[in-house]
Amino acid sequence: MKDKKLPIQKKESRAESSIVAALDIGSSKICCFIAEVKNPGSIEVIGIGHQAAKGVKAGTIVDLRAAETAVAHAVEAAELMAREKLQGRPIKSVFVNVPGMHTLPHPLSVDVKISGHEVSEKDVKNALSHSRSVVVPGKEELIHIIPAGYSIDSTRGIREPRGMIGQTLGVNITAITGLAPALRHLSAVAGQNNLEIDGFCATPYASGLAASVGDELQLGCTVIDIGGGTTSIAVFFEGKVVYSAAVPVGGIHVTNDLARGLITSVADAERIKTLYGHAHATGIDNGEMIDVPPMGEEEHEQPNYVPRSFITSIIQPRIEETFELVRAKLVDSGISQIAGRRCILTGGASQLPGLCDIGQLILDKKIRLGKPRSIKGLAEATGGPAFSTAVGLLVYAGEHADEIPAVASGRAFTLPGPLNSPMLQKVTHWLKENW
Ligand SMILES: Nc1ncnc2c1ncn2[C@@H]1O[C@H](COP(=O)(O)OP(=O)(O)OP(=O)(O)O)[C@@H](O)[C@H]1O
Ligand SMILES: [Mg+2]
Repeated sequence: MKDKKLPIQKKESRAESSIVAALDIGSSKICCFIAEVKNPGSIEVIGIGHQAAKGVKAGTIVDLRAAETAVAHAVEAAELMAREKLQGRPIKSVFVNVPGMHTLPHPLSVDVKISGHEVSEKDVKNALSHSRSVVVPGKEELIHIIPAGYSIDSTRGIREPRGMIGQTLGVNITAITGLAPALRHLSAVAGQNNLEIDGFCATPYASGLAASVGDELQLGCTVIDIGGGTTSIAVFFEGKVVYSAAVPVGGIHVTNDLARGLITSVADAERIKTLYGHAHATGIDNGEMIDVPPMGEEEHEQPNYVPRSFITSIIQPRIEETFELVRAKLVDSGISQIAGRRCILTGGASQLPGLCDIGQLILDKKIRLGKPRSIKGLAEATGGPAFSTAVGLLVYAGEHADEIPAVASGRAFTLPGPLNSPMLQKVTHWLKENW
């Protein structure tokens, strides 16, 4: 680990531009995926590294140095696996997720005068650049500018306005901002590993991109990523993300409840949860008894049996609380009206049996479990729901990079780091050529 010094340093040489890297900084694990993007829709994972998280609590970096070290290990492992394609060179930049609780969605509608001429790229970018008006300077930074629909004069529902003629171009936009302190800490952790930031992506947005299938996002869908320390929520409508948030509860809270309730270690509570945990009393235990190692006794001689139903009775209230908090977020935001009844549960903690049943009851939605879409090079061990965010970051990089504020509206971030990224240098060049 290198000594702390900002601004971000550049590496000697860098990998091919078709190589993208994703860094998921989670509360339980930190992982780095490196992929080759040949064209949108063709993503091949060539390197994977993951590590138990350090320095991250409930989605927030609480110890920069510890997080930097864990990131270093994850990135090095991914680089090692991808060394042939990278020709031994280190990756230079990454797409990084921003936990839902550090993001704010800002829906807005913008009208720009086109006065009878054809709508040009410049008009669209001009409309999108109004997104900056939602930002509270010093407190937030734009991380996504997503055009959610266009109108020309009184004609609504236009998908592609460029080339059309009218007086006024209307654009519905979902602008998502990230809270500045969280972005600065993510930038610092990346920077200490000599990584520039290609773009930030809201965690549940990334997870939704990875875990959805067919036309789910088009039809309208809520994506809930239950991770270790957070439960992130995104709502998609007509294929676009329109809402992103999170509640600070996840699988770690269930494990800690079990450790307290069973008076056992966190490691044993985690094992018991994974092997015997269930989200609600279903009668599956049939009086089954589970041996719980007492705290501090590594090789306990006498079995310490507890009814499996007792384990469930500890888990269930926390799961109910989590879904209640999610429901409150959706109701308070007013988004539940358009969110519809379709829902995907993903994230590592979504693997707890019985979760969907409780979610369906509390959220009044039709829920299915989602794991990352199948991507070439993704091994079974890293194809589970805990990796939806990392895979989603690659999908975002490969298919949605035009939603990065600097690309969408022709303005850059103000935080250190991204301004230097190769992608933004290309954008700056493009802007000079076209404006
Ligand atoms: N089979 C399983 N059954 C129940 N829970 C599981 C299972 N496997 C993993 N988990 C839980 O998943 C959680 C980790 O999920 P994940 O890897 O998605 O978290 P994260 O992305 O690091 O955290 P966050 O997104 O909250 O910052 C842990 O709390 C772990 O106990
Ligand atoms: Mg996560």
